[in-house]
Amino acid sequence: MDQPPPPSSILVIGAGVFGLSTVLALLQRPRYAKTKITIVDAAPDIPNAYGSSVDSSRIVRPDYNDPIYARLAAEAQVLWRDQSASGFGGHGRYSEPGFLLTVDDEEKSAYLKECYANVTASSERGGASKDDVELLEGEDEVRRVSGYDEIKALWGYVNWRSGWADAAKTVEFMRSKIEELGAGGRVAFRLGKKVDRLTVDDSKTVVTGVHFEDGDQLAADLVVLAAGAWSASLVDLRGRAVATGQVLTYIEITQQEEEAMKDRPTIMNMSRGLFVIPPRQRLLKIARHAFGYRNPVPVRARNILACEGGEEAEIEVSLPLNGIEVPKEGQDACRAALHELLPRMADRPFVKTRVCWYSDTPTGNFIIDWVPAYQGIFVATGGSGHGFKFAPIIGDKIVDRIEGRLEAELSHSWRWRESVGEFDGLCVHEQFVKALLRRVDASVRRRANASARAVSDRKRPATDITAALSTAPPVLPALQKPHTRPRPGRHYDNTQTGDGDSDGALRAGRYRRRIGPMVWASCIFGFSLALYGSYYYTTYTQALKVAAHLDLPQNSDVSDRWRDRTRDFDDEVDVSEKFLLLKAKRRRLVQRATGNVLEVSCGTGRNMELYDLRPYDAHETDGYGRSRRTLITSITFNDQSDVMMERAEAKFDALEAQRPEAQRFNGRVNFVVGDAGIKGVIARPAGGYDTIVQTMGVCSMADAPGFLRRLGELCRQPGEQPSEWLPPEADDGRGGKILLLEHGRSYYAWLNRLLDNGAKMHANNYGCWWNKDVADVVRQSGLVVDRTDD
Ligand SMILES: Cc1cc2nc3c(=O)[nH]c(=O)nc-3n(C[C@H](O)[C@H](O)[C@H](O)COP(=O)(O)OP(=O)(O)OC[C@H]3O[C@@H](n4cnc5c(N)ncnc54)[C@H](O)[C@@H]3O)c2cc1C
Ligand SMILES: C[S@@+](CC[C@H](N)C(=O)[O-])C[C@H]1O[C@@H](n2cnc3c(N)ncnc32)[C@H](O)[C@@H]1O
Repeated sequence: MDQPPPPSSILVIGAGVFGLSTVLALLQRPRYAKTKITIVDAAPDIPNAYGSSVDSSRIVRPDYNDPIYARLAAEAQVLWRDQSASGFGGHGRYSEPGFLLTVDDEEKSAYLKECYANVTASSERGGASKDDVELLEGEDEVRRVSGYDEIKALWGYVNWRSGWADAAKTVEFMRSKIEELGAGGRVAFRLGKKVDRLTVDDSKTVVTGVHFEDGDQLAADLVVLAAGAWSASLVDLRGRAVATGQVLTYIEITQQEEEAMKDRPTIMNMSRGLFVIPPRQRLLKIARHAFGYRNPVPVRARNILACEGGEEAEIEVSLPLNGIEVPKEGQDACRAALHELLPRMADRPFVKTRVCWYSDTPTGNFIIDWVPAYQGIFVATGGSGHGFKFAPIIGDKIVDRIEGRLEAELSHSWRWRESVGEFDGLCVHEQFVKALLRRVDASVRRRANASARAVSDRKRPATDITAALSTAPPVLPALQKPHTRPRPGRHYDNTQTGDGDSDGALRAGRYRRRIGPMVWASCIFGFSLALYGSYYYTTYTQALKVAAHLDLPQNSDVSDRWRDRTRDFDDEVDVSEKFLLLKAKRRRLVQRATGNVLEVSCGTGRNMELYDLRPYDAHETDGYGRSRRTLITSITFNDQSDVMMERAEAKFDALEAQRPEAQRFNGRVNFVVGDAGIKGVIARPAGGYDTIVQTMGVCSMADAPGFLRRLGELCRQPGEQPSEWLPPEADDGRGGKILLLEHGRSYYAWLNRLLDNGAKMHANNYGCWWNKDVADVVRQSGLVVDRTDD
């Protein structure tokens, strides 16, 4: 396909690594030889001390769970390792002393083992040597490798192929490279010029340039918005990206101490989420990658592209607040990390602290795409706390996307997504650190609130920076709120986005006393045993051997297995499900779903295609063979794994796209990441859920009876007014229903023995305890069984 002619002028807003790398890529492509390129930045000079891309150091490592980023990081590292004067790593800009991860408590130990396994596997896949990753068994080993002889650690591992970059020097290098390549007037830097808004033509659909705060204007054929955490002040990014402030502290060290520490690996204590990078210029940096702070400020809607609202309307956007001290809570966390790592320096004052701003996206993926419905405006932002390491290559990817040549996988990951509605920030960044911190935060919350358990970080609210600064409370992130997704072209309300239960009258025990929600416990023991039996025999001997060494108590939490991006879960179960004719069972079950429907533990959404989601049409009722009382009016999908939810959401979109317009679902669709067993994760709609569906979920949860009890609370209670959508005749007064399709123990003792022997191994691999007594779980839950099918 022929490319359209290149733009005659391109204006890049933001001289951080996203903007500078874009300009470098443009300058190196002959296609843009005649294009006038301008980089504008609000900062009077570059490197901008307040930009995310500027600091003493940024970690550069390929340790990602997501293979896309692992591959990109490895690609970038090739350029980082170029130590020549004109290479990214030259003049001390990049060092590779390794990256050491430690744990100091048993709780995080299991997780670090998984990380270690992932990193080893990915380094092998990437062709690196196995020796690059070293297991450090015990505190002595950790002390030897880290060089910190007082460090407390149970064990850890080091990846010697990771390093760190001097971020400020890198930005300086990129700037001078641009000046060199753009000599002769092709490139202009306009510094100290803050863009106030984008300008549009009369049709209001074509961006024509920018309007500066000082009243100047600048026209361009193409504007690339790469303003990092400030991007949301110019284009409506609500529900797509949010600025969250992160904690950095520095202590002074002597020259002698620096000499001793400067070649040590970067060290991250996974139990606390705090890390230390080797010092330079006699400053040792201690930082936290965790929940961040927000700075919500009112902004005129009319200044923000794609933002609806009247002339005078204001919206609230979190924007970076420059030059502030880290709140006490953050300083305390860094001080505690120092006590663990370097007790003898632990009481030194922080000579400098800084809140540095991430542009966090709900998925941690960057946003590198055109703004839909507009021409002339492209967005490159959403670094989500892990964008710096890609400085050598991200510009090429951005320009590839502008030209429509970026590989499909990256285009998809970095696409302009639908807003997730209210989104307060990811608070954590790199894919595997994300999972780690989910656990760290979970343990913190457990201490603070016995009922709180791990939740996904996909929607964890950040603390307002002003509140943190004034009171400095150790504000813990609240439970995750649902991610409510507006359906295009349809009315969208927020009734299901609340944090807690709206119905205060529901009390523990109430649903136990009465004949409550009907439970359709279809425990298909025979079928599932046949499936597992055939698998089991082939792996039985091996399983017994391995299981003997596995430290995995029966029914312990193995839900992490569902967060493995490298696995194709659908592919793994397709054949066995076909063999067991499971689809028919699934269909029979979900076709009983009506009204406000919640499907929990939905995994990759294997039931989605089986729901009847066609809208009600009075004229076609006969044709559809349905009455209003069997309609689904809203549907909420939940899983505690973000990976599962991403896949489920994509599946839902694909299924809907295949349907003729008139048959697409017109009710509200929600996707909620989080443990549905925790109060507040799923909001109870007025009148409760009419139907709750779970298939194959009991096997993969640690506290299944408690989970089912919670489902009971979320259901419409007997006698409770049904949702307004349900016609009165559809209410039999017995409350909502829970439809279960589960697998577990058999009636046969010999089969149970086999199941028990292989259970640990199976749970370890598949995140599923296949030997649970489902009937007993239901009994313990206190719910009343209305009907059971085998
Ligand atoms: C504390 C912290 C630690 C991090 N650690 C790592 C790490 O270890 N490894 C890693 O890979 N990544 C890390 N990151 C992430 C990484 O630094 C960022 O993803 C990356 O630097 C983002 O670059 P950017 O160009 O998008 O934004 P920035 O570097 O912030 O650049 C945006 C620029 O836009 C300018 N601008 C904004 N608004 C306007 C306007 N209206 N008009 C004109 N100019 C404007 C700003 O002045 C600024 O210079 C970290 C980030 C932080 C904050
Ligand atoms: C065996 S899979 C079943 C997936 C799907 N229901 C199906 O039938 O294919 C179990 C799923 O339960 C999810 N899960 C486990 N515990 C959960 C919890 N407490 N809340 C929500 N989802 C949970 C896991 O992430 C996993 O996706």
